[in-house]
Amino acid sequence: MNIQENISLKNHNTFGIDASARFFVEITGLVQLQKVLELKAYPKKFIISGGSNMLLTKDIDALVMHIKFKGITIVEEDEETVEVKAMAGENWHELVLWSLDQGYGGLENLSLIPGNVGTAPIQNIGAYGVELKDIFVSCAAMDIETGELVSFDKDSCKFGYRDSIFKNEAKGKYIITSVNLRLTKKNHILHTGYGAIEGELKKNEIVYPTIRDISDAVIAIRKSKLPDPKELGNSGSFFKNPVIGQKAFNKLIKAHPEAPFYEVEDDGFKIPAGWLIEQAGFKGKRFGDAGVHKNQALVLVNYGTATGQEILDLSIKIREEVKKRFGIKIKPEVNIIK
Ligand code: EPU
Repeated sequence: MNIQENISLKNHNTFGIDASARFFVEITGLVQLQKVLELKAYPKKFIISGGSNMLLTKDIDALVMHIKFKGITIVEEDEETVEVKAMAGENWHELVLWSLDQGYGGLENLSLIPGNVGTAPIQNIGAYGVELKDIFVSCAAMDIETGELVSFDKDSCKFGYRDSIFKNEAKGKYIITSVNLRLTKKNHILHTGYGAIEGELKKNEIVYPTIRDISDAVIAIRKSKLPDPKELGNSGSFFKNPVIGQKAFNKLIKAHPEAPFYEVEDDGFKIPAGWLIEQAGFKGKRFGDAGVHKNQALVLVNYGTATGQEILDLSIKIREEVKKRFGIKIKPEVNIIK
């Protein structure tokens, strides 16, 4: 096992933050993972996978374990559906493309989301009307304390909007090693209701879309709005869209009748944080190498040499201004490593 010292994590986080790992090891198999967890010489351990949902604000004084488990297999199938098991280190979008090549439906709306399979359940990734929980069956995870492999079914993951047990009571206790998803082989359930998808299909004169058409539409929309982390460091939406109660909603609409919103089940109203941030004057603004994306204010970007602390400072400035102007608290979606 090759444990390296003082390794830059710049290429291991999509923000492109140049923080370093005191120790670093690549992990390609479960037995190796168990062995590394047992290493007493490195009491502090830190897991990194696709690095797509984290902001590193300092160097990591621990053994950073880079999870690289690979493989996609079919667990079971019948006439209509197939259960697929994907290992944690598989790139998410490559899994989506693989499923489309097989003619399997369910992942098309989740095309082009950065990151790896293993991190998808942590924040219940979602886009364009679909969330991971809609196709999720279970995931396997290794208990960091005991090295034991445990299985979490959908209920025990406690999925919510950009939320799961792995962000709450199970935080820091497990390493997700694989994820099982149920996909359709025919009679695909198409989710085209999201305005931007409808618009994209219409533009291309597609009346009866295939799962591939939907994926292509989502890819086109994402490319037009969201920066490619390979070109401009970012972590997708930096904030969650806040959900506010009736009273706060009435106040907002009175002052801003044009404000976009979605009603959510538990009697609240979800307000796009991107809109709040744009109204607060931050869209496209740059402070040194930290900035707010010009096409989607929800996305903070690193123009090159921003530190995690600079991105964090900008996020605090934005939160304060949004609170001051609208009385609404917005919270980060990204996992901030302090
Ligand atoms: N808006 C603005 N200005 C902006 C951005 C958005 O006014 O700069 C307003 C627009 O009115 C727009 C509305 O906000 O109609 C919603 O914008 P968009 O459709 O881009 O979606 P979002 O709510 O900003 C969420 C997810 C995205 C996901 C899209 C599409 C969160 C935190 N973000 O963004 O997820 O791709 O919906 O489903 O829920 C991610 O999590 O990293 C991510 C990119």
